[in-house]
Amino acid sequence: MLVNNAGIGGRADNGAQDPTTLDLDVLRTVLDTNVFGVVRVTNAMLPLLHRAESPRIVNMSSNMGALGLHTGPQLAAYAPSKTMLNSITAQYARRLAETNILVNTGCPGYVATEFTGFAASRTPEQGTAIAIRLATLSDGGPRGGFFDEEGSIPW
Ligand SMILES: NC(=O)c1ccc[n+]([C@@H]2O[C@H](COP(=O)([O-])OP(=O)(O)OC[C@H]3O[C@@H](n4cnc5c(N)ncnc54)[C@H](OP(=O)(O)O)[C@@H]3O)[C@@H](O)[C@H]2O)c1
Repeated sequence: MLVNNAGIGGRADNGAQDPTTLDLDVLRTVLDTNVFGVVRVTNAMLPLLHRAESPRIVNMSSNMGALGLHTGPQLAAYAPSKTMLNSITAQYARRLAETNILVNTGCPGYVATEFTGFAASRTPEQGTAIAIRLATLSDGGPRGGFFDEEGSIPW
């Protein structure tokens, strides 16, 4: 199983993530980790995953990337990076549909980690629950979905 968990929020000072003053260097940096990094690691790991009995790929996303939800603080580099991550996950799921590799995205919820200044309501243990669930899906489980602990998240 591969869990692509690494992610960054990116600088947000001085309007860096206000869409009207968006700092494109911040956008590039955020995309480099949150999207390009996932592609690099996934493609490097695929030969190994193909050899596994029940391979799973889990991309850790955020409900901030859901286009219809308008949730969380406005972060015009971070949120779109997760929207793109969701989209690229769907591409992998489609490409690997004839294999036993199940590819999904998960949202951990608002978790007290360095990312949130340890100020959020959920514990890291609670945050990992969705990653564990998606990484241990039974064969025949969902492909190309977007989930949190409660179930499906709208795109
Ligand atoms: N916390 C939340 O409320 C929340 C909500 C929704 C989604 N998420 C998502 O959940 C995932 C984990 O978040 P978190 O809260 O655990 O964040 P975190 O506390 O900031 O930890 C992020 C981890 O990613 C690693 N990382 C960052 N950039 C990297 C890079 N370029 N290459 C390799 N590793 C890198 C960091 O390693 P170093 O420490 O070595 O830099 C760190 O271990 C992220 O994808 C985040 O977007 C979090």
